[in-house]
Amino acid sequence: MSQQAIKFAYWVPNVSGGLVVSKIEQRTDWGIDYNRKLARLAEAAGFEYALTQIRFTAGYGAEFQHESVAFSHALLAATTHLKVIAAILPGPWKPALAAKQLATIDQLTEGRIAVNIVSGWFKGEFNAIGEHWLEHDERYRRSEEFIRVLKGIWTQDNFTFKGDFYRVNNYTLKPKPLGLPHPEIFQGGSSRAARDMAASVSDWYFTNGNTPEGIKAQIDDIRVKAAANQRSVKVGVNAFVIARDTEQEARAVLQEIIENADVEAVHAFGDAAKQAGKSSVEGEGNWAKSTFEDLVQYNDGFKTNLIGTPLQIAQRIVALKALGVDLVLAGFLHFQEEVEYFGRRVLPLVRELEARRLEELTPA
Ligand SMILES: Cc1cc2nc3c(=O)[nH]c(=O)nc-3n(C[C@H](O)[C@H](O)[C@H](O)COP(=O)(O)O)c2cc1C
Repeated sequence: MSQQAIKFAYWVPNVSGGLVVSKIEQRTDWGIDYNRKLARLAEAAGFEYALTQIRFTAGYGAEFQHESVAFSHALLAATTHLKVIAAILPGPWKPALAAKQLATIDQLTEGRIAVNIVSGWFKGEFNAIGEHWLEHDERYRRSEEFIRVLKGIWTQDNFTFKGDFYRVNNYTLKPKPLGLPHPEIFQGGSSRAARDMAASVSDWYFTNGNTPEGIKAQIDDIRVKAAANQRSVKVGVNAFVIARDTEQEARAVLQEIIENADVEAVHAFGDAAKQAGKSSVEGEGNWAKSTFEDLVQYNDGFKTNLIGTPLQIAQRIVALKALGVDLVLAGFLHFQEEVEYFGRRVLPLVRELEARRLEELTPA
């Protein structure tokens, strides 16, 4: 088990409709005032990272969407030590522009910007903005080149790259980012292509929620592949957290979310997401095994089962850490209230259990 304290990120609600496709009341707002306050609450609560989302069109309950890079900068300006991960979609973004844009934000915020390269699953969105839609594994091949170009521009002078998707000729970015060796690079996806890309070029691999067995299988696979490339990759797992004083209350909230699911929107989202994954070589993808209930949370967050009392949740988080998880990416129903509760009630227990475990592992 890693001796590093497990880290926490929260999903930034920069898209309307919250994190569940349900008509249940969500006291969460996608606007900037709500989000600035949330970011401050989160850093005070002990969250290290905030993850923004990128969407270009309305789909499945997300009618309004703020752009991720601009929004990330606004949150960084409102905080002092939180790191914000800006989601970037190769296709609409070109890597030289992204490198320049993020280097400037990095300079303005003393190295607090990071990036999540998302390879895309929403064909309708690409059609809507006139971007060519690549098949599944081609999307990852392009994303891998995107990341190689980002790193090259961020770390080298006179950088040249000749790929199938991108070309760079003797380019020197000035100023380069302050963060060393460059802003951290996250990525999402669970397919074979996603894992191969993580093992080759990413610093962090984000996966959808899953059972401990499912998470362990992915971690083992990635770590073996990364070691073969003389690299190491850190792992973040998505979870929809429902922490309440009693387990009964927490389970009742989950049931209410599912009972109020927006059935049409869940099916539409599930169809698009599963279709995108089917075009992978192995015919799988992030959502291949997701049931209707799983899909009510966009990234299978119920499956991770951080639903219960603060102690139950803290114990499950420490168990995830023992499997090799480095970060928990948390979504909530009522973000501001629940981020505050998580920081006050759950996080201290996690730190206590981690310290106890470390003592047990340290020879007297
Ligand atoms: C934590 C996380 C965050 C993601 N954020 C976005 C996002 O903001 N926008 C988006 O279009 N896709 C997002 N994705 C989707 C992935 O980039 C990827 O397209 C999807 O997971 C398909 O993966 P697959 O190759 O395993 O099927 C995210 C995925 C994960 C796991």
